[in-house]
Amino acid sequence: MEEAGRDKDEAVLVRVEDFSAAKDAANVTTKPTRRYPLASWIAILALATLVGVYIFSLSLKQNGMLFGLKQTSMIEKEREKPCHRPSIPDTEIPYVHYPTPDTYSRKECACTPVRFFAILSMQRSGSGWFETLLNSHENISSNGEIFSVKERRSNITSITKTLDKLYNLDWLSSAAKNECTAAVGLKWMLNQGLMKHHQEVVEYFNRRGVSAIFLLRRNLLQRYVSILANDHDRSTKQLNGTHKAHVHHRGQADVLAQYKPTISTKSLIAELKRSDKLAADALVNFKTIRNIVLYYEDVVSNRTKLTDVLDFLKLPNIKLSSRHVKIHTKRLRDHIDNWIDVYNTLNGTQYESFLNGRR
Ligand SMILES: *[C@@H]1O[C@H](CO)[C@@H](O)[C@H](O)[C@H]1NC(C)=O
Ligand SMILES: *[C@@H]1O[C@H](CO)[C@@H](O)[C@H](O)[C@H]1NC(C)=O
Ligand SMILES: *[C@@H]1O[C@H](CO)[C@@H](O)[C@H](O)[C@H]1NC(C)=O
Ligand SMILES: *[C@@H]1O[C@H](CO)[C@@H](O)[C@H](O)[C@H]1NC(C)=O
Ligand SMILES: *[C@@H]1O[C@H](CO)[C@@H](O)[C@H](O)[C@H]1NC(C)=O
Repeated sequence: MEEAGRDKDEAVLVRVEDFSAAKDAANVTTKPTRRYPLASWIAILALATLVGVYIFSLSLKQNGMLFGLKQTSMIEKEREKPCHRPSIPDTEIPYVHYPTPDTYSRKECACTPVRFFAILSMQRSGSGWFETLLNSHENISSNGEIFSVKERRSNITSITKTLDKLYNLDWLSSAAKNECTAAVGLKWMLNQGLMKHHQEVVEYFNRRGVSAIFLLRRNLLQRYVSILANDHDRSTKQLNGTHKAHVHHRGQADVLAQYKPTISTKSLIAELKRSDKLAADALVNFKTIRNIVLYYEDVVSNRTKLTDVLDFLKLPNIKLSSRHVKIHTKRLRDHIDNWIDVYNTLNGTQYESFLNGRR
């Protein structure tokens, strides 16, 4: 947290001045006390010590966990430029930011309001595709799965530090824009510390005005097929010896889609229940955050859903595009090796409808 560090130095400087002022004051008062006995000297010494201890404790608090959060939010407010435009309604103010990055100057974009967002999703739910769609907008910068790196999510301090850097526009990834960024965010999987630290993250999102874009999957059986196929490719590296989670060519997609997993019918229901519950819990845990809930299947079949996202981010509506090519495009039965077993396992259960998945 470079910004916090710098402000701390300033604060210490100010206090050093305070201290010399206090010393001057002490000097002034010492003159008339020359005639007084030792007791006065001890009193003055005690006073000076107290002032010293006070200054020391203040600088401790600056670094301390206790006041860390409060201080940061105050710092953020101070650092943000006063660019408030009359066109922004009062209810929107908490979600509008004017970051001042440490690594570059926003120059003519300095007064372009920036919205903070986080795509909350699960592996193999179309979030890679969705993120490339968002990044095709000149004003959106979505910086990928930042929390796939374990150290960044090992504790809430690391998470906060990482998010601060991202939302200060100091996260330099390929998603960085030459244009005026008007929305900055990341892709965050529920199992990447998000559910584990949900209370603190909710607090952070609310405090900093971060909006959540849920991207979930309706058909969890299709998602499971995608997970198994991706795991298979991770070990077999079917495309010229490299593993690809996403592809840009139909030919490559067809190679990956050739693999038909055999699904263990013993654990299938438990597996579906587990991911169903995870998604449901996430919606409950993050319900106090300003959010939009999208389902992958709906976005695939109805691109107007993307307009909803741009409206949600208060960005101009343009046509978004992605080079990603869908891997599994046939009927679900054609992508599962032991289809009959799977059918019989799910027929008559709450997950029966998953069997009719088309894509
Ligand atoms: C948090 O995690 C980071 C990175 O793994 C580590 O360096 C740091 O010591 C941890 N802090 C606390 C308070 O546990
Ligand atoms: C998007 O970026 C362009 C080019 O930098 C800029 O002129 C425009 O104001 C930005 N739009 C928004 C909504 O910020
Ligand atoms: C493998 O590499 C060759 C040559 O670089 C290329 O022509 C071919 O399309 C690649 N195959 C796949 C499946 O990506
Ligand atoms: C497509 O999405 C839009 C925006 O959410 C919605 O209003 C519309 O009803 C949807 N169309 C269909 C056919 O579902
Ligand atoms: C699915 O289950 C119902 C009863 O629950 C049964 O009548 C039907 O034949 C089953 N479908 C298949 C294809 O086995």
